[in-house]
Amino acid sequence: MKQKFSVVIAGGGSTYTPEIILMLLDNLDKLPLRCIKLYDNDEDRQNKLAKACEIIVKEKDPDIEFVATTDPQTAYTDVDFCLAHIRVGQLPMREMDEKISLKHGVVGQETCGPGGIAYGMRSIAGVLENIDYMEKYSPNCWMLNYSNPAAIVAEATRRLRPNSRVINICDMPIGLENSYAQILGFKDRKEMDIRYFGLNHFGWYTSIKDKDGNELLPKLIEHQLKYGNCPENEAEGNYTDDSWMETARKVKDLVRLDPTTTPNSYLQYYLYGDDMVAHSDPNYTRANQVMDGREKRVFGECARIAEVGTAKDTTLEIGIHASFIVDLATALAFNTHERMLLIVENNGAIENFPDDAMVEIPCIVGKDSYEPLSIGKIPTFQKGLMEQQVAVEKLVVDAWIEHSYLKLWQALTLSKTVPSANVAKALLDDLIEANKGYWPELK
Ligand code: NAD
Ligand code: G6P
Ligand code: MN
Repeated sequence: MKQKFSVVIAGGGSTYTPEIILMLLDNLDKLPLRCIKLYDNDEDRQNKLAKACEIIVKEKDPDIEFVATTDPQTAYTDVDFCLAHIRVGQLPMREMDEKISLKHGVVGQETCGPGGIAYGMRSIAGVLENIDYMEKYSPNCWMLNYSNPAAIVAEATRRLRPNSRVINICDMPIGLENSYAQILGFKDRKEMDIRYFGLNHFGWYTSIKDKDGNELLPKLIEHQLKYGNCPENEAEGNYTDDSWMETARKVKDLVRLDPTTTPNSYLQYYLYGDDMVAHSDPNYTRANQVMDGREKRVFGECARIAEVGTAKDTTLEIGIHASFIVDLATALAFNTHERMLLIVENNGAIENFPDDAMVEIPCIVGKDSYEPLSIGKIPTFQKGLMEQQVAVEKLVVDAWIEHSYLKLWQALTLSKTVPSANVAKALLDDLIEANKGYWPELK
């Protein structure tokens, strides 16, 4: 019989927790489980989900132990995998990041530009704290970390916890590849073999082949030049809401800049920042949409499940995006040698890019290890953009470590989303004020 595993979900109160649990329970044949724990440092928030999650687990398999706790020792003792998705400062701080940026006429976004920088300054301590608990109570545990902003968090873990068993990942490639599969007529994204390089939320696909080795990228790009990442009939697209649909449309403009690769749609915030600002409502941002949408829907449904005592007729859905978490855990546990995009230290994989940059590239994942694939040389346009962005991410981590006002001002000034050092300074002063108690005090 296959070994059974124990997992802890850090950030148990996240709106993504129920769909991840459903996804884990749907894959017990691949990754058998004996225990699922939720851990959060906000008991009230986690309690909005915990009862429903317990019911979901018990109805699927009563032999799986379920624990919801705010005690790190209980959470992290005897666990094999930690699935980490914490949001330090929660959604109200995301709202601040987005609104402060827009007030200065700059892109207001969760992980890109000043919003991502501010969020990075909050996240680092929270993620390190969870890594330390993991190493103390379950030193052989792997943390699959998708707490954002993943690029900055990855650089911080590289520097500050270089030997810990943490893998930083993002679900964006799954969403993008699902849309490519639909456009190209595949049932499953795994029917394609892809090549990709970049940073997190900042990269390009350079090849998409079918299993016979036929290159399909030119065909995909031809479609994208007309429709972006939407299918010809937009209504058939599987976008969760209008905001993601607009992002998919915008790919039409992004591919024009280099019609030999296809971009991660997050590049819209760097390459068409002016359009993004023009289309944002500074009084009602994405954080507001999420709080009024996903958060209300998920918490409401969890309250209903807890009240009726069953999840049999639930509207909660398996997080298909989250399937990469099961794939990754399965690969580490059972040596599947799955090829996956991970955020890893470059170390020569991209030949003409610094060794110590955290890049997002395909890796082969096997028993307790992963091996990055070699990418070779990348073109000047992408290299230039990436060098600028990776410098921003490194300066943020420098600023956090050294408590340096200057380094953070430099980071904001260097961000492609910010027009000048003046704007960067005004932004920084507002962000410092809003983040009191979350950021180290800057000197
Ligand atoms: P959320 O605010 O709904 O949930 C996050 C939870 O983390 C909250 O309950 C909060 O109390 C908890 N938390 C904060 N600090 C903590 C700490 N130090 N220890 C334990 N718990 C802590 O957020 P959400 O919208 O569900 O998103 C969760 C995270 O997942 C965010 O970082 C988001 O950006 C990220 N995310 C990443 C990807 C990816 O592809 N990398 C995809 C989706 C979401
Ligand atoms: C994608 C990204 C995540 C990000 C999320 C935000 O899944 O990969 O890193 O957190 O989108 O989505 P939202 O719907 O909260 O704006
Ligand atoms: Mn992501």
